[in-house]
Amino acid sequence: MMGPVLAACLLIILSTAWISQANGATCKKDGGVCTCNDNTKSVDCSGKMLTAIPSNIPLETTQLRLNLNSLSKLSPTAFHGLNKLTFLNLQFNKLQALPTGVFDHLFNLNELRLGANQLTSLPPGIFDKLTKLTWLDLDRNQLQSLPHGVFDKLTELKTLYLSTNQLRRVPEGAFDFLEKLKMLQLNDNPWDCTCNDILYMAKWLKKKQDEGLGGVDTAGCEEGGKAVLNVTEEEAAEDCVYPNTTTAIPTTIITTLASSNDDDIPELPVPQENFQKFLGYQEPDHLPTQPQCLMSISGYLGLMMSLVLTSAAILYVIHFLKKA
Ligand SMILES: *[C@@H]1O[C@H](CO)[C@@H](O)[C@H](O)[C@H]1NC(C)=O
Ligand SMILES: *[C@@H]1O[C@H](CO)[C@@H](O)[C@H](O)[C@H]1NC(C)=O
Repeated sequence: MMGPVLAACLLIILSTAWISQANGATCKKDGGVCTCNDNTKSVDCSGKMLTAIPSNIPLETTQLRLNLNSLSKLSPTAFHGLNKLTFLNLQFNKLQALPTGVFDHLFNLNELRLGANQLTSLPPGIFDKLTKLTWLDLDRNQLQSLPHGVFDKLTELKTLYLSTNQLRRVPEGAFDFLEKLKMLQLNDNPWDCTCNDILYMAKWLKKKQDEGLGGVDTAGCEEGGKAVLNVTEEEAAEDCVYPNTTTAIPTTIITTLASSNDDDIPELPVPQENFQKFLGYQEPDHLPTQPQCLMSISGYLGLMMSLVLTSAAILYVIHFLKKA
């Protein structure tokens, strides 16, 4: 009696996995949730309550909108097949950490929007391959520190938003390579103007004010509200010791944790998604569309009926064999 029941359960589990593969598409025309424009090669998945990036994003995509979703975690290889991307919007999600190397294949990226997430730190070198980047927003996060040299490769950057974070200082030399910068937003951070490590930024802002950079006066000291660019060496006299291991350790732990449960083969285009597909597993990243539901339900009903019939046939045969 148990045999057919177990077999039926196994079949149901397998069939459920098989049916869920119907949700593997990205574009609406294929049953996915994103609006895809074949002419502009743009894919708009914004505002769809996604908790995972849809699989099978067309590899020729140049603009990808994933803003206004519920993404809390990215696979380290999430964008590795998408090296044609020039625009990537991840604003208004729940990202708490970025895995090391997640943007490393985006050689053509011009605009990267990461504002309005929950980032508390950035992995060292996270932007190092984005040498064509002209726009970077990191505002409305919870960044407490920046890794040493994090902007050093962004020599084409024109706009940088760091406002509304928890930054108290930037590492010495942090802005030195931003030669084309036109606009910088630094407001709503608790800039600590009592320690002398603020003087790098104060002097840099003062110099850039003379060169016409926008937003140099947006950084205000946590205490007193004075503009950081006006802070003097006398005011910022304290020799605060911040061994940079204290900021480096949490970053390393977070990135290790974030990447430890994923594969170590970054060269494969989208191994995680392939793996999920192999298992027939899809994260419940969106509500299925109506045709998908109909398809699933009719497929399900058909399968259930054939299962019942098969079970009945098996039971009948067993019964017949026992009698004989
Ligand atoms: C620590 O500081 C040194 C010297 O300023 C620098 O070369 C190094 O990259 C820093 N390490 C981190 C993790 O920021
Ligand atoms: C900086 O100081 C100068 C001279 O005291 C003052 O005129 C200017 O308004 C200050 N800048 C800001 C942004 O507060």
